[in-house]
Amino acid sequence: MADLLTKLAYQTMQQGKGLLGLVHKEASTRLMTLVAPEGSPKTEPVSPGLFRQIKASMDQLQDLDWEEAERGLYPASLLFDAPWLDWAARYPLVWLDTPRTWNRRRERNVKDLPDDVDLQAYPEYYLQNFHHQSDGYLSDTSASLYDLQVEILFNGNADPMRRRVLGPLVQGLRAFADRPASQLRVLDVATGTGRTLRQIRGALPQAQLVGLDLSHAYLRQANRWLSQLPGELPQLVQGNGESMPFADASMQGISCVFLLHELPAEARQNVLNDCFRLLEPGGVLVLADSVQLADSPQFELVMDNFRKAFHEPYYPDYIRDDIDQRLKQAGFEAISGASHFMSRVWQARKPR
Ligand SMILES: C[S@@+](CC[C@H](N)C(=O)[O-])C[C@H]1O[C@@H](n2cnc3c(N)ncnc32)[C@H](O)[C@@H]1O
Repeated sequence: MADLLTKLAYQTMQQGKGLLGLVHKEASTRLMTLVAPEGSPKTEPVSPGLFRQIKASMDQLQDLDWEEAERGLYPASLLFDAPWLDWAARYPLVWLDTPRTWNRRRERNVKDLPDDVDLQAYPEYYLQNFHHQSDGYLSDTSASLYDLQVEILFNGNADPMRRRVLGPLVQGLRAFADRPASQLRVLDVATGTGRTLRQIRGALPQAQLVGLDLSHAYLRQANRWLSQLPGELPQLVQGNGESMPFADASMQGISCVFLLHELPAEARQNVLNDCFRLLEPGGVLVLADSVQLADSPQFELVMDNFRKAFHEPYYPDYIRDDIDQRLKQAGFEAISGASHFMSRVWQARKPR
């Protein structure tokens, strides 16, 4: 009975989040069409048939999320984990920031970054306003709005998609079952504000966790979110995923969520190569990112609309990229993938 009620509460919460996301996006697009029509995204309408397919895949994702919690892969409390009051307080700031986003979109200004940023400290491809985000990834304001903006973008399904890395990670780490869990090191590459690390800490409470990101501001935000809950505070390290400041074979598990589509092809390969270097033989890499044309051709229009509505310069290349081949090229074996709603998850192992 308690389980049934918890499931109902989860489904109701997801439906509520979905509705809020849809209403927010619709309102913001209509407003922009009125206020700044020359800049508004020229996206294609979603047909009722496609809408049903999207809804069905979203329901499947949420069913799987519930099932995996029920099977004990992670605590059911994770399904409800969000800084609700904080998000409610920040929501008006998302609207206040919106005209800046519109201006940049209208002016096609994708390099509108804070003046105090040391441009030499970052790769060229990073210095942009991804998603037309104010300040790119380079300010505390951007970091404080990011999670909420992503929740809105995915109609409340960002965390259920991030949680898809947990099963493969937990299963992959069984290769080291002869060691105490406290001796396992798991790295989250491009950890951003730490949402994935929060989920991993729920599933692997004893493992040593490390998060790496290029953005100091996002790491500061991750530190704040991660400090709010009990449990070990993960180590947060600033660095480039292409060449990470850790020793060879020093990790047993690595995750990387929503990074690959924001990298040019060469950097994408460099990140996978460096993950291979960092893993101990037998270690597991789990990637989660956008679906691609090869695995989800039915969502081509959604991918195309995403590219039109947001500044995502490497997305068209990413959705055509062969990630399995890149993983093989890096040296991985036992590569497999699965799609969940708008995300594709790969798992791969470093040979023993
Ligand atoms: C779309 S966000 C994803 C963040 C987080 N994984 C999540 O699930 O929300 C992309 C993140 O990748 C980081 N990033 C981009 N290029 C990077 C690189 N070369 N090395 C490390 N981090 C990078 C950005 O700073 C940002 O935090």
